[in-house]
Amino acid sequence: MHEEHHLETAFQRCGEEALFPFGAVAPPIFQTSLFEAETLRDRYDHGGSQRFHYSRASNPTLELAEKKLAVLEGTERALCFSSGMGAISSAILTFLSAGDHVICVETVYPPTRELLANWLQRYGITVDFVSGEHLDEFERARKPNTRMVYLESPSSIYFRLQDLGAVAEWARQYGLMTLCDNSWATPLFQNPHALEIDLVLHSASKYLAGHSDLVAGVVAGRAEHLEAIAKTRELLGSTLEPFGAWLLIRGLRTLPLRIERAQRQGLIVAQWLAERPEVAQVNHPGLPTHPQHELAKRQLRGYGSLFSFETYPITAEQAYAFTDALTLFRFGPSWGGYESLLLGWQQGEPDEQGRSPWLFRIYIGLEHPEDLLRDLARAVPHLGAV
Ligand SMILES: Cc1ncc(COP(=O)(O)O)c(C=O)c1O
Repeated sequence: MHEEHHLETAFQRCGEEALFPFGAVAPPIFQTSLFEAETLRDRYDHGGSQRFHYSRASNPTLELAEKKLAVLEGTERALCFSSGMGAISSAILTFLSAGDHVICVETVYPPTRELLANWLQRYGITVDFVSGEHLDEFERARKPNTRMVYLESPSSIYFRLQDLGAVAEWARQYGLMTLCDNSWATPLFQNPHALEIDLVLHSASKYLAGHSDLVAGVVAGRAEHLEAIAKTRELLGSTLEPFGAWLLIRGLRTLPLRIERAQRQGLIVAQWLAERPEVAQVNHPGLPTHPQHELAKRQLRGYGSLFSFETYPITAEQAYAFTDALTLFRFGPSWGGYESLLLGWQQGEPDEQGRSPWLFRIYIGLEHPEDLLRDLARAVPHLGAV
């Protein structure tokens, strides 16, 4: 009898039901570019019978990672790519043609925005951006040639949400394809496909791989869609290579532990910052002060530990004094690994005293939260009134 397992068990066991060669417990890496046929006759007469041919198309290590990701997202199939942008661009390019129109959320990951707004213009594809917070914006942006709706919930700088089920239902009545970047929540905290979103996208470089040592991407969805995207991936060559797939499998083994801990300490730090007089606003969907907190509670089962906060008007010198005083935060893009990170941007033009609000994006990693708070407590006073 087939036993039903919890998700945490099911995705780890998936693909590992059979013994690996020699009883190895960790999966082997099939670090091979090609797969031979037993005979040439085999290859040509029974072309379809050979499972693997060339690792740009697929590879057993890659397939194992993909099986686990499909279980995690609750989809028929998943595909892995050499980056999140590889996944996003392949998914978009598979379903758009010259003359098509896309509706996209304005707070989307900037390179995705650049791809849709600038790069695809060369192919006669147009895009309109909406805040994504109200369903009627989508209706107003819709045109006779609209083909696709691109979502990212929550978005990764301002942490705005879209009501995924409502947008999917609206899109379905016009036959529009829906895509959602789910990197922030991970499949453990949100499954857009269960809310009828067609394609779920991930930068696996973040929480999924989880150790700041891999760039990878994922698309998950229905088999029919994924078959078409696999063809694009093979043609454009953005397949994840076997060692990358192995690192991803290794990272996934601790995903439930890492994401639980990250969510807990992310909330601790967000709440602490929200109470500081130097901080004007914290953008974290898990805080009751977030304008979409009710939607967040309904749609998410947990929270990522990446969020942002805004200051009152300060000088650039104050912003740098704050970051100079931090000892446990690295200053860099990306997120999802062990180490806590920070990035900051001046908001708008400075006033005559050279002051303007700043937005800091903060990623809470796996250091002890008391150490992180002590570090922040030393630095945050620099952001206060002088
Ligand atoms: C929300 C989001 N989506 C997609 C990407 C792109 O992923 P990658 O860097 O793996 O190409 C990123 C990367 O920073 C991201 O933050």
